[in-house]
Amino acid sequence: MLKKLTLATAVSTILMSGSLMAASLTVGFSQIGSESGWRAAETAVSKVEAEKRGVTLKISDAQQKQENQIKAVRSFIAQGVDAIFIAPVVQTGWGPVLEEAKDYGIPVFLLDRGITVEDDSLYMTAVTADNVLEGAVAGKWLIDKVAGKPCNVVELQGTVGASVAIDRKKGFSDTVDTVDNIQIVRTQSGEFTRSKGKEVMESFIKAENNGKNICAVFAHNDDMAIGAIQAIKEAGLKPGSDILIVSIDAVPDIFKAMMSGEANATVELTPNMAGPALDALMAYKDKGTIPPKKIVTESNLYLPADAKSQLEMKKDLGY
Ligand code: AHR
Repeated sequence: MLKKLTLATAVSTILMSGSLMAASLTVGFSQIGSESGWRAAETAVSKVEAEKRGVTLKISDAQQKQENQIKAVRSFIAQGVDAIFIAPVVQTGWGPVLEEAKDYGIPVFLLDRGITVEDDSLYMTAVTADNVLEGAVAGKWLIDKVAGKPCNVVELQGTVGASVAIDRKKGFSDTVDTVDNIQIVRTQSGEFTRSKGKEVMESFIKAENNGKNICAVFAHNDDMAIGAIQAIKEAGLKPGSDILIVSIDAVPDIFKAMMSGEANATVELTPNMAGPALDALMAYKDKGTIPPKKIVTESNLYLPADAKSQLEMKKDLGY
């Protein structure tokens, strides 16, 4: 039977060579699901990063449901893991279950999405990109690309209530709102999936004079952009030229689309969120180091000229 507080911490450290070193750690990871190529890469990379550090990683797939994530967290608490990683599907509703983890002294690390809680001591750190910045980088690219010409944009949002969807939307719209020539004429969730991205794009095309009124797509992830590309082609238009495509993630498939001239720009989201979280966990267990509340990953912009080298690099990294 687990005892509240300190037990997990106490048994996870052993005295070696006069200094405290982390004993072999077990981490429970509540993953959102497998909605996108990026998500699949993040899961794969997390396993590799854990193995590199000799950490046992138990992954639970929540199939896009917060209730499944909450159950997984409770199960990890019952198993007495050393830490819990959560990629939170939505931003709100985490307080009570994180209180439970805190009561048992189990540190929680957030990966790739943020949460809003009254007490931010309920989690140790969040490893994420600055997603407002990611939206802003996409918006700035579009402003430069259209160079003052009128441009109607359709937006494919990510999962409703996900921090990344909220932040990317804000970053993009705040940026394009600084110019008069760009208007977001339609916006809807494509749930971060290729199939829903295609379905929503088809409805946008129908509503906008068979796509002729659309100048650009801003998709909150590459998978929805790829779905949109399919819809544009089926409507007899050319993605990448008749309709510009800008998205987020930088997964291999968007670089392939760039090489075929069908996508124009993507903003990187590294799938390696687990590596920095594991480093922070180990420093905390070994030396009691408290990490910064946010560990921010890079948000570089990639264009067709980068596609070949990016594809090769990702292949080498095994993404
Ligand atoms: O939280 C990160 C987002 O989730 C990625 O951009 C998207 O592809 C994924 O589904």
